[in-house]
Amino acid sequence: MVSDRAMAGIQRPVRLREVEQAEQQRMRTGLDEFDFVLGGGVVPGSVVLLGGAPGIGKSTILTQVAARLDHAGCRILYVSGEESAHQVKLRATRIGGGAEDIAFLAETEVGHLIARAREFDPAVLVVDSIQTLYAEEMEGAPGNVGQIRECAARIQRYAKDHGVAVFMVGHVTKDGSLAGPRILEHIVDTTIYFEHTGDQEHRIMRAVKNRFGSVDEIGVFRMTEHGLETVANPSELFLADRSRGATGSAVTALIEGTRPVLVEIQGLVGGPAYGSPQRVSTGYSRKRLAILLAVLEKRAGLPFGQYDVFVNVVGGLELAETAADATVVAALASSAVNRPLPEDAIFLGEVGLGGEVRRVGQPDRRIAEAAQLGFRRVYLAKKSVPRSVPAGVRVIGVENVGELIREALGEFRMPSTRPDAPRSESRRASAERSTNELRRTGRHRIAVAVPTE
Ligand code: TYD
Ligand code: MG
Repeated sequence: MVSDRAMAGIQRPVRLREVEQAEQQRMRTGLDEFDFVLGGGVVPGSVVLLGGAPGIGKSTILTQVAARLDHAGCRILYVSGEESAHQVKLRATRIGGGAEDIAFLAETEVGHLIARAREFDPAVLVVDSIQTLYAEEMEGAPGNVGQIRECAARIQRYAKDHGVAVFMVGHVTKDGSLAGPRILEHIVDTTIYFEHTGDQEHRIMRAVKNRFGSVDEIGVFRMTEHGLETVANPSELFLADRSRGATGSAVTALIEGTRPVLVEIQGLVGGPAYGSPQRVSTGYSRKRLAILLAVLEKRAGLPFGQYDVFVNVVGGLELAETAADATVVAALASSAVNRPLPEDAIFLGEVGLGGEVRRVGQPDRRIAEAAQLGFRRVYLAKKSVPRSVPAGVRVIGVENVGELIREALGEFRMPSTRPDAPRSESRRASAERSTNELRRTGRHRIAVAVPTE
């Protein structure tokens, strides 16, 4: 039994109607891509986990965010269990912009951390990192599962009780997973990852869980001498080094989160291979590639069976959408027949097992983004041709992969094993024979496409 006196101190049921709709007043950091990934700024009382490899710039971005919020009049406390005040100061000096005004605390015991935080009463608390914290009364070293769970739970309770926004840094382990991700996932409101792109300078930030916004948003940053800069138009990054007029290069417009992003996909068909042909794919599902190759063989007369096939998504993006199937088809066909695709074209469409090019979601927005960046031709499923397109843009509706390739590359042919080849002939012998034949006749110049890079 709970005494009457004690009852007075515990929560009562309320009508939902009477719950105050505290419309979350988000705090904008002014680092646009960062606000964007969070879903429009920092939500008071929210707990955000920022994961990423060592050295990627987690402390840097959070120092910048803290400096900006501090400058805007938010009370900030930056706690580090990793670095000394001196080290953190060096970074702050480098970043500039008032970063040296941030209040800093070096602490690793979670009880002490929270006690100091209560006293200081910040609007935003940065904890760098969750793996360096420990709770005195728990067994085990900092970083072990029990410690991480306990420390994160206590910080989360503090955040909710006091309406403090918390950013927790989490290191990713060698295999790329956030240490203790399962444990932390349900404790935090938002999980964002900081990842490398193909080059040294750029970073992609991605929300994978967000209670206060859309997931799969990406933000692109560039590391400079003075911290991270936002890259306002991610498409430009993914297309920056595009080699014009090269074979095997095709562009698509993906919807990453809520906005379209243009991405180049490269295909390379080498061979014919002796032994088992290689299928290597970065950024595009290997399973889907296998399906596409089978479809191209059966429905478009492009027998890739004996050739090495490579697919690369430029800029380090991982394609989650199927809308780029048609792009992969175009890139591979271009490499196979050794003819470049039109430079000003994008390709949109899922490819089905029947070789049909299927519609994609939100074609208008994808086309608008492409048009803004100077693309003038759009190949897509006949059924998703929009009623109106931006001036100067031509839309080419296609029904299947064969039509797609013909429209983009003209009539094509790829050598296959001769239909009258003896059945007993080994694959290797047949491959050799067809290559020799090609070399002799010179009719199809495609089969001996050799990787140029
Ligand atoms: P850091 O934020 O310490 O990475 P993390 O906290 O994720 O481990 O940043 C790491 C790298 O960034 C470091 O090698 C130095 C570099 N850097 C710059 O290039 N410019 C800068 O302005 C700063 C602060 C860091
Ligand atoms: Mg760090």
